[in-house]
Amino acid sequence: MYRLSDFCMMEESSFARKLLVWYQENRRILPWRGTRDPYRIWISEIILQQTRVSQGYDYYLRFMERFPDVHALASASEDEVLRCWQGLGYYSRARNLHHAARQIVEAGGFPGEYAAIRDLKGVGDYTAAAIASFAYGLPYAVVDGNVYRVLSRYFGIETPIDTGEGKKYFSALAQELLPEGGCGADYNQAIMDFGAMQCVPKSPDCPVCPLAESCVAAGQGRVADFPVKSRKLNLSVRFLHYFYVQAGGEIALFRREDDDIWKGLYEPMLVETQERQGPEDLFVPGRVPAFVLSENTVRTRLCGETRHQLTHRTLVADLYKLDLPVKPSDVDFGRHAVWVKPCEAGRFALPRLIAVWFERFGLSGKAGA
Ligand code: ADE
Ligand code: SF4
Repeated sequence: MYRLSDFCMMEESSFARKLLVWYQENRRILPWRGTRDPYRIWISEIILQQTRVSQGYDYYLRFMERFPDVHALASASEDEVLRCWQGLGYYSRARNLHHAARQIVEAGGFPGEYAAIRDLKGVGDYTAAAIASFAYGLPYAVVDGNVYRVLSRYFGIETPIDTGEGKKYFSALAQELLPEGGCGADYNQAIMDFGAMQCVPKSPDCPVCPLAESCVAAGQGRVADFPVKSRKLNLSVRFLHYFYVQAGGEIALFRREDDDIWKGLYEPMLVETQERQGPEDLFVPGRVPAFVLSENTVRTRLCGETRHQLTHRTLVADLYKLDLPVKPSDVDFGRHAVWVKPCEAGRFALPRLIAVWFERFGLSGKAGA
């Protein structure tokens, strides 16, 4: 282990030095930290973009086992990659990874410069800086939610973080704070761990914080006021009505194609409405395909109104089971059905909500109610 004085010419009191001292004592040992392999670092950063370390950890290990290098990833099918991602959410990350893996192989290897890394599909400013810093030791400061929170509190910055001005301001400040010399990568890891472990979003334990003495927010007792945001999240509610259609020993699944949640994943037949609707509102001509209303169809309501929280919206979903003697011709309803045996459902990438239902109600041939 290096000593700080070996590499970093920093003042004793500086923010970066205190952070690095904290990091030496509190750093998390994580499987993507002992490497400079850009592929492993890239995968870990994409997983961690919208996922906590505790949840992403096992996914990372499994992903590495299944796709140990960029060639393995590039030669897989998109469905295979999505299946490995199943349950992590934000599935465009998986599709972009797959696309970028092919870009990388075509280019003859992983890019080694910031601009070329930033050009990879799914890689934004944050991820490009992380890869450039961790894999190549290049002097780019990372700016993510942790960094906004720590900097805004420590320096008492009132500029809203969700404006163009705020983004510019925080990027410039972060870059200025990045120590020169050999410890930029450690500094980047340090500020992320500090935000995840010490300067946490809700009620951080400031009395034990080694930065408290010079922290503006703590000094003013205004920790909860930072970071400042200009607008509140727009929480919208969507109502999803799923129909598990079973005919001739097979079930109908549909791949989500629209630019929307769960793109590329499979689900049962879906009717979405703007308002809450019970069976009496739904089972009317025009709302659902005619076969649903046919007297030969046995309808069972398996689950009423399950709430499912995504970051920006609440889903309210219910599930009906429809048993038919023969496959209906009008099941497609705008999308192309894939008919599979229930026991084959596990081979498709399903949204977590759907996978949990299938398990609970024994809909994929496994044990269940
Ligand atoms: N979150 C995003 N990137 C991370 C990393 N490299 N280590 C820990 N948490 C992270
Ligand atoms: Fe964050 Fe509190 Fe430490 Fe300030 S004193 S950096 S608010 S944990």
